Amino acid sequence: MRFDRTCFVGIAGACGPSEGTLSECGGKASEAATPLSLPRCRSLQSGVAPSEGFPPHSESASRGGPAGFLFAVALLASFASARAAEPVSWFKDLTPIFKRSCNGCHSPAKNKGGVDTSTFEGLLKPGKHGVNFVAGDPTKSPLFVEVSGKEPAMPKEGDALSAAETALIERWIREGAHDDTPADAYSTKLSAPPEYDAPPVINALSVSPDGKWLAVSGYHEVLVFGLPDFRRAGRWMGESTRIESLAFSPDSMRLAVAGGVPARFGEVQVWDVATGKADAAWKIGADSLYGISWSPKGDRLGVGGADKAVRVLAWPGGKELVKFDNHSDWTLQTAWLPNGNRLVSGSRDRAVKLIDAASGQFIDDINKLIEPVTCLALHPKEESVVYGGAEGGLRIYRAKENQDRTAGNNDVNLAREFERQPGAVLSVAFSPDGARIAAGLPNGEARVYDAADGKRVATLPGHDGAVFCLAFSPDSKRIYTGSFDGQVRAFDPADGKLIGTTSVAPPRTAAK
Ligand code: HEC
Repeated sequence: MRFDRTCFVGIAGACGPSEGTLSECGGKASEAATPLSLPRCRSLQSGVAPSEGFPPHSESASRGGPAGFLFAVALLASFASARAAEPVSWFKDLTPIFKRSCNGCHSPAKNKGGVDTSTFEGLLKPGKHGVNFVAGDPTKSPLFVEVSGKEPAMPKEGDALSAAETALIERWIREGAHDDTPADAYSTKLSAPPEYDAPPVINALSVSPDGKWLAVSGYHEVLVFGLPDFRRAGRWMGESTRIESLAFSPDSMRLAVAGGVPARFGEVQVWDVATGKADAAWKIGADSLYGISWSPKGDRLGVGGADKAVRVLAWPGGKELVKFDNHSDWTLQTAWLPNGNRLVSGSRDRAVKLIDAASGQFIDDINKLIEPVTCLALHPKEESVVYGGAEGGLRIYRAKENQDRTAGNNDVNLAREFERQPGAVLSVAFSPDGARIAAGLPNGEARVYDAADGKRVATLPGHDGAVFCLAFSPDSKRIYTGSFDGQVRAFDPADGKLIGTTSVAPPRTAAK
């Protein structure tokens, strides 16, 4: 299962179908909004509007509502007729169709039939059955043939394209199949910091081992705060629209970030904490990365991903030392055993795997496969790991081979099972002194347990939505939680008292 979240942010000035804007960050809902917003944006750019009698900034358009809707429909209609004479545009006319109906199966991340409809460049590469189109000849172009006829073969699932849409594809091919993709169409570089209309859902946070810094995921950026007073200390913007995981290095000098743009690329960034500058930004694979962790010496990084792989990267340099392909679903978490020779990975495939960090060899599943592993954390000193599952399980395992399993006992590494949680465990942490574990939950609570006897010692209430991430302070006397409501809270883990809270969204710049 994937924890889809709504996107609450907008970027000033963003509109239209280009990547790196609103249209990509909210999944289905905002993609569906693209066709309507498209002509409005285009009219702003092309200046078509005045001759049609539609001032681009007319009140009715910007206010929306019924009048705005009719307005948009009228604009769509007039727009279509105005464009009939112009050549079909690959980028403006066709990419929204493919994005809605095809890219789910035909992208670099999910390359069914070897066909990639997500970019012109991708489409140019022949699929398993040969070329996708022959410029000038629609009948020899699978791209058209497959979507036309009485019972079109494509899209394989979902509604067939409309007659108008297949006609656009046909005409585009007949007109020579020209590429008019703007040079910066797929860039996700920001020219200005994002503006937040509402607080961002917090996916990830990390506290530096020296206790001075708190890093929190924002949209397209990492928000850095000084502790203990949550003083704003930085906005670190990168190309990843989604920040999935954050980890300070053992010496607190660097922050590693894993994220990416779903179905486009994964990215690891490494930031220099003293200067607030990026030391590295590596694009890796074709989908988001998750669960980043530093080796105990800080000389390597482990990272999981939606492409199921676990990678070990050298720091500095980023050389891929290991690519581990033994998981059969997304790997959401990695962690290193104290001696640095082995790491563990947790995946939606239900396994916590033990991996030889040097050779990349699979050693064993340390657990019985019970439920998708959503989060895990290592004991600070011992070779044991706590993990949380999608069905509410919370268990501590010894992080070693599972070789002694027998028919009677096939779960020999299980050291402790905690009370069942109300819903998927979204995040888990060991206190640095090893005495406590904390779990973040979808019901707006975090819970603190005694690691030794398994009893609950505190419940941290008051989150307005799921608690997606949490971390202890180095002295184990604070827990920081990050939640759906865009707030970071500090609690005393001994009694669950709220100590402080801050909204992570940066203040808006003055209205323009
Ligand atoms: C639900 C998944 C899915 C969707 C959605 C989908 N396809 Fe496919 N497509 C496939 C699969 C699977 C194949 C490979 C079929 C094969 O190898 O026989 C394929 C093959 C193709 C091929 C190559 C066919 C050939 O024989 O040369 C083209 C072209 C194609 N798709 C175009 C599209 C277009 C255009 C859309 C959107 C309108 C689309 N597909 C939507 C799953 C999908």
